[in-house]
Amino acid sequence: PLVNAAEIVKAAHEGHYAIGAFNTNNLEWTRAILAGAQEKNVPVIIQTSMGAATYMGGYEFCKTMIEATVKSMGITVPVVIHLDHGSYDAAKEAIAAGYNSVMFDGHDLPFEENLAKTKEIVALAHAKGISVEAEVGSIGGEEDGIVGEGELADVEEAKQIAATGVDFMAAGIGNIHGQYPDNWKGLHFDRLQELNDAVPVPLVLHGGSGIPQEQVQKAITMGVSKLNINTECQLAFDKATREYIEAGKDQVGKGFDPRKLLKPGTDAIQATFEEITGWIGNKPIK
Ligand code: G3H
Ligand code: ZN
Repeated sequence: PLVNAAEIVKAAHEGHYAIGAFNTNNLEWTRAILAGAQEKNVPVIIQTSMGAATYMGGYEFCKTMIEATVKSMGITVPVVIHLDHGSYDAAKEAIAAGYNSVMFDGHDLPFEENLAKTKEIVALAHAKGISVEAEVGSIGGEEDGIVGEGELADVEEAKQIAATGVDFMAAGIGNIHGQYPDNWKGLHFDRLQELNDAVPVPLVLHGGSGIPQEQVQKAITMGVSKLNINTECQLAFDKATREYIEAGKDQVGKGFDPRKLLKPGTDAIQATFEEITGWIGNKPIK
């Protein structure tokens, strides 16, 4: 069934595990993520960036496509359709289109404006039973046109954003979108601890791809209850697709059927989902 994310993320927070939030780009990605969730028997947040939603044909299209896929696959685990890194306008559009959950990402606005707009989105969304994620500090690197300097979340700002009634909060703690550079210093656990002590809401770890498993699990013991993954699935899809094409490139006519061509990559996304979910998602992490 489709649910908002508030209850499942809160349950993860209390139960010391995390819900995987995976970005989708099309029907194959959606099917792979849903099949993985059903196989592992875990709730799942399936999210679209603004760019991916535009690519697929808009928020209404995405909502309808994901909902129809849940139905046609007979998915019984809880599924959330979530907007990832939404602008103020995008959050409003996704709310109107019937998303179950939205992220309003105001990291690039002056703090007072981020706060005021977060409040507005919370009011609009909660009136419709839709959960809301906000962002404090920023995530380094770039994802689908969203660029961040990677500044650490300020604890006082986090308290004010939490007081808006948001359901969970993305915090800059040294995390980066895309691939981590070799000289990356790791997550800032001191700041994560301060944030976790100061705010009651579950925290979201963006840039989940490529963070060593031990660091993610440690972060989960310190209040992180939603783990965002995008790049890892892209890399898995790319690798499997290349291998398939390489293997068949001299055999004219073999495997050009798009359903065959897309299958190895789709299976690789499902395997990535199941692997990560296996160590974040179905039992308490101590
Ligand atoms: O918002 C989505 C995520 O933060 C994904 O980050 O591509 O580094 O896994 P990633
Ligand atoms: Zn992100």
